Formats: sequence, C-alpha cells, structure tokens
Amino acid sequence: EANTAAGEAGRPAHQHWGELYQNAEYYALRAVERRNWVFNPALPPQPVWVYEGATPDPATFAPTVFARYGHPVLCRIFNELPAEHVGFGTPEISTHLHNLHCGSESDGFPGDYYSADKAGPTLTQPGAFKDHFYPNICAGYEQMQNGYGDEREALGFLFYHDHTLDFTAPNLYRGLIGFYLLYDHIDSGNEQDPSSSALRLPSHPYDYPLVFADRRFSADGLLYYDQINPEGVLGDKVAVNGKIEPVLHVAARKYRLRLLNGGPSRFYAFFLVSASNVVQRFTYIANDGNLLPAPLLNQTSVTLGVAERADIVVDFSRYPIGTELYLVNRMIQEDTRGPKDIKAPGSRVLKFKVDRYPPAHDLSRVPATLRPLPPLDPAEIAAAPVRRWVFERRNGMWAINGAFVDVNKPAAVVVKGSAEIWELVSPQDGWSHPIHIHFEEGRILSKIVNGVEVPIPLHERGRKDVYTLGAFTTLRVLLHFRDYVGKYVMHCHNLIHEDHAMMVRWDIVDPVA
Ligand code: C2O
Ligand code: CU
Repeated sequence: EANTAAGEAGRPAHQHWGELYQNAEYYALRAVERRNWVFNPALPPQPVWVYEGATPDPATFAPTVFARYGHPVLCRIFNELPAEHVGFGTPEISTHLHNLHCGSESDGFPGDYYSADKAGPTLTQPGAFKDHFYPNICAGYEQMQNGYGDEREALGFLFYHDHTLDFTAPNLYRGLIGFYLLYDHIDSGNEQDPSSSALRLPSHPYDYPLVFADRRFSADGLLYYDQINPEGVLGDKVAVNGKIEPVLHVAARKYRLRLLNGGPSRFYAFFLVSASNVVQRFTYIANDGNLLPAPLLNQTSVTLGVAERADIVVDFSRYPIGTELYLVNRMIQEDTRGPKDIKAPGSRVLKFKVDRYPPAHDLSRVPATLRPLPPLDPAEIAAAPVRRWVFERRNGMWAINGAFVDVNKPAAVVVKGSAEIWELVSPQDGWSHPIHIHFEEGRILSKIVNGVEVPIPLHERGRKDVYTLGAFTTLRVLLHFRDYVGKYVMHCHNLIHEDHAMMVRWDIVDPVA
C-alpha cells in the first residue's frame, strides 16, 4: 500500500544484511500533522498526528502494511511533524514495530528519537528520517540464506507506533499508530489459496484490523489529554480506528476481526451483542501476534490489556440483511488502577450493519488446527536461569526492581543463544500492568496469584508479547534470545506507566568465545 520505488537511490549499503537489504521491499512512512481529522461529525475537525504512506488517504488514519514472511521490508520513516506545536506531545519520534523480531537498530529504541529539525541523541545520520530494516523472518540471516524459514513467531498481527522516551502516551494519544500484518504460507492472506498448507482464513477486505483507544474531549470538542496524572489516563469515548461510534458495513459472510487495545490505560472486555443486548458467539483464533494452535469455538468475550490483540472470526451470514450488531465493552474500570469486573450491558463502541450479500460465495474457513506450538522442552526449562523483575509503585512513579528507566545503561545483559525464565512480579494490590517484552515472544509457564498457582487461560498458552500482571501476581515466562545483539526494552504498556519510568533497557551480547 505504501509501496513506492521512490527513495531507492538513497538506500545505503548495509554490512550485515547485504543483498537482502538491497532487495528489501521499500516502504516510506511519514509522521505528519493532519489538519482536519473528524473523530465524529458532532466534533469539530481538528489536528491529529498520524503516519501517512506515499499516497495519503484522508479517510484512513494510517496505512496498513501487508508483509510476507521471508520477504524483508525496508521502512524509511520521515519525521515531518511541526517543530512548533501547541499542547501535549513532542514532535520527536522513534517508531517501534510491536512484536517484530529485528535488529536493535531498527527496533525503535525509546532513546533513539529524532525530529524534523535535529538528529536526536543517538541517530548517527543527521536528517529527519530513519531507516528500519524488518527482516520478517525470525531466525536470522543464516536461515534466510539457506532459503528456509522457521515460523515460530511474530507472524500475524503487529502494529507500529511511536516509542519516544517519556512521550509515548501523548504522542499515541495524538494518533501515531498503525497496523502491520504479516502473512506466511499457512496464514497466507488469501482465502482462496489452492495450496494444501493454506488455512484459508477470511482474507482482505474481510480481514479487518481495529484499534480501540479511549479519548476525552474538551467542552469545545477538541482532544483533551491530562498531562498531570502519572497513574493513567481514561477517556469516556472510544475511538475505533480514529472514529468515535463508527459503523462498519459488512457483508453476510465470515470476517476476521483483529482487535487491538491501543491504550493509553484502559482494559476492555469486548462482547458482540444484538440490538437487544443478546450475546452472540464467535471464534477466537489468535492472541497477540499469532494464531492459536486451535480455534476456541463459541466464545462470548475477549479481554484485552493495553497492546494485547485478539483475532476473532465472526460469521455474519447467520444474520438477515439489515441486522445491526454492536461490539460493547463490559469491563468496568472506574480509575486507572486496572479493570474491576465485567458487567452487562456495557457501552457500545462499534456498530456492525449487515447490509449486503457477499459478491461471491464465501470460501473462507476456520480449520480445526491453526498454527501448532513448538513443544516446550522440560530439560531446557529446568536449566534456564530465572531472572526476577518486580513491578511496583514508588514515590508516585513506577519502578522495575526499584529503579526508573535509564536508556544509557542496561539493567540486564543476556547472552545470545541462551534461554531464560523471566519472573514478572507485581507485589502490590490494585494495579494491573500489561508488560511488554521487546525482541522475542515468550510462553507463560506458570501464573501464581496470592501465592496459589492458577491455570493459564487457554488463549494465553500460545506465543505472547504482552503479559498482564494483576495484583499479587507472579508470571514465569520462557524467552529465547536466539539471534542479534544490542539493546532492547521491557516496559509496562500502560502508556502512562511507561512514560513514568516503568521500563528497563536490557542488552543481548555475544557469548564469550
Ligand atoms: Cu508496543 Cu515497547 O511497545
Ligand atoms: Cu503499569
């Protein structure tokens, strides 16, 4: 979509990736201020900050990148935000592709921000853009050269967003977020794929990403952001792909809906209901970035912490033309501490209107097996060192192991090629922290609440990149550090906690020979 041949001439040589880098598909994204965004006809047109592609689409808040496993992408991200601006946020950016497995220099490290008029603290190349190389393959250069892949992770629903140190929350609140969908030969993005390995899940345009982000508006209808509160920010309206109370017109057939909680702080429990609030059933097929090993049938809700994703398949052919359905949020959350409980009827955030028959027979399906999980290796788990991380409130801010973020110094150094168990601990009452670990997806091994081991919910037994840590909870997560060296981060994805220092830098280093 954002594809263009422009910029080819300026492509620098790359030592490590060589030819792959030269042949990577080129995308250009520009972070810009768009003047006249309409959240809802009842609100005045107003400025937002968005990512735009080569051909800006005024109806869409950001271009969706469609990528393919094993086909690298070179994404040049221009920062054209105005140096002078009124109100919250900063015109500096550092773009992170959430859940992509890539080199440190392309990961959008929070300290590596840059702006239109200055290069930023660590960007060596002066200018207002930065190149990000997304290999779209998980096991690194060697496998790529051998021409085979290992589809163990980072293969579905990814999203890019600004990650500037201390300013991620206000910059995302202004709109700097977009989708990146990564397909392979199994989840091929083509429901008519004749290949026997293809799942044939509902595909574009029936494969539809949706980002939910609560917002508040001032009396004059302008986006309002509370800059003061270090605990979190809750809005009373939910923007869905930048629109408040939108209507999605759907055909009477199956859809894959990809739901993303875009923050800043709210948790959601989504239900699909009829106009008279009767709960409808759907199939849950993917959590975070990846397909589950098997679909969860007859589901009635999905719960999402900030940055968590869920893909669901809804079969709208079960409803007569003219039917209206609603996606409602039933999660009660009165303050920014975290979700309380789930209660009907909830508030409507998105309306579906089944308004037509599909132009062709719906050939999509949801097979009984999706993406198998690699088996856990008990010997590896037994041998893996355990690293403990304690997340807690300190002096009105948010600390990890008692410290606030320092982007100049790693809080941990791990060895490339090793496996570790990271123990994520929330020793305090009340607060929920959606913890995100960059670089590698993990597997939850155990969950202990109030000293008692509890079962891991089915949808959390797959590959994950966000781990919601409730009160008095300890999670053990298995991580592999298979390739690359460099600096990465782990942080709370409640964007306000993240900006108030609940983040650590950790580094991967080569093993000593
Ligand atoms: Cu979605 Cu470190 O971020
Ligand atoms: Cu938090």
